[in-house]
Amino acid sequence: MESKLSLEPSKRSKKLGLSGIREIFEKAQKIPDVIRLEFGEPDFDTPENIKLAAIRAINDGKTKYTSSSGLLELRNEIGSKLKRENRIDYDPKSEIVVTAGATSAINLAFLSIVDSGDEILVPDPGWATYSHAVNLVGAVPIPYALQESNGYKFDREEAEKLVTPKTRAILINTPSNPTGSIFTRKNVNEIAEFASHHDVFVMSDEVYEKFLYKDDANSGNEHVSIASLNEMKDRTVTINAFSKTYAMTGWRMGYAASSGPIAAAMSKINAAQSSCVSTIAQYAALEAVHGPQDSVGKMVSAFAKRREVLVKGLNEFPGFRCPLPHGAFYAFPNIQQTGFTSYDLAMKIIDEAHVAVVPGSSFGVQGEGYLRLAYANSIENIQVALTRIGKVLN
Ligand SMILES: Cc1ncc(COP(=O)(O)O)c(C=O)c1O
Repeated sequence: MESKLSLEPSKRSKKLGLSGIREIFEKAQKIPDVIRLEFGEPDFDTPENIKLAAIRAINDGKTKYTSSSGLLELRNEIGSKLKRENRIDYDPKSEIVVTAGATSAINLAFLSIVDSGDEILVPDPGWATYSHAVNLVGAVPIPYALQESNGYKFDREEAEKLVTPKTRAILINTPSNPTGSIFTRKNVNEIAEFASHHDVFVMSDEVYEKFLYKDDANSGNEHVSIASLNEMKDRTVTINAFSKTYAMTGWRMGYAASSGPIAAAMSKINAAQSSCVSTIAQYAALEAVHGPQDSVGKMVSAFAKRREVLVKGLNEFPGFRCPLPHGAFYAFPNIQQTGFTSYDLAMKIIDEAHVAVVPGSSFGVQGEGYLRLAYANSIENIQVALTRIGKVLN
């Protein structure tokens, strides 16, 4: 119904365009036999031990507010994990803040390090929410291009051209959504040098750190946390979540780790926005990080098999070229030779093949000419999806 009120939503909110993912999502809802390869969430259920921990918390009456930085017990476990696995020594008492997923961590980090008018370098192609978060704080997203031709590596020479006196931070995401590429240790070192040279913050989104695959040419890919490099800890906000690693997207659990002053700012803003994250979900996350980890390995092995099937199938389509992604759970085929724009091809595929995929253009200008397909679906469904898309393309 049309409102007669002349008052309108804020200009800030109007800057947040709906991404192409949402449009595909809406269409997919209306197609009964649709196969969903557009969604960035594991199709696995949250492991039983984690669910039981939440139920126990409810039964034990652990249902009150916690510190706005999160339960200290949980921060201690996150601190141990960051030390053990990421080689970063954060003080759980003053340098870790528990957040409602990585999304909230990103927003809190921007609110804590950015002032209006600042410029933030964001990856292109990259997760659309980064630009939204930058816009929300009144800063300006400046896309830095990641190119298929050099394996989506950070290109320092190109990045140098984007730096101005207003540049405040660079956001990096490895393994990457949407390309599935990873930054090598050498590349992460280059980013560290770049950030130090220009004296800017780094926001490092590491939500796909566990989703690394073995490749023919090497024994396995390595995740390098930029904050573990010499003198990088204090200028970095390390962002991670339980969402992908433990199939906990709906629980909304994540964290940000940083220097003490930035963490204190994030905690203060978290208090102002929501007091704290759900206590019950925090107890579930405590079990996730502290309990058995075998579910993670099983899930990643399943993704590895799906990756092979999907990428092989995509490379058989006329006009498609799909390098094997090293991490995350996305294939990002180049479709330039099909003659379609990525939007038109994604629409054709959902309308005619009943398979939901995302146009690469939803991830930035550099994403034009690509599609993103998540292999967070069963091998059987991926095979049916490939057969259907093949029929449409041929
Ligand atoms: C790169 C990246 N970061 C963060 C998120 C969001 O994580 P969370 O659900 O923990 O907010 C996503 C979700 O798709 C993502 O792809």
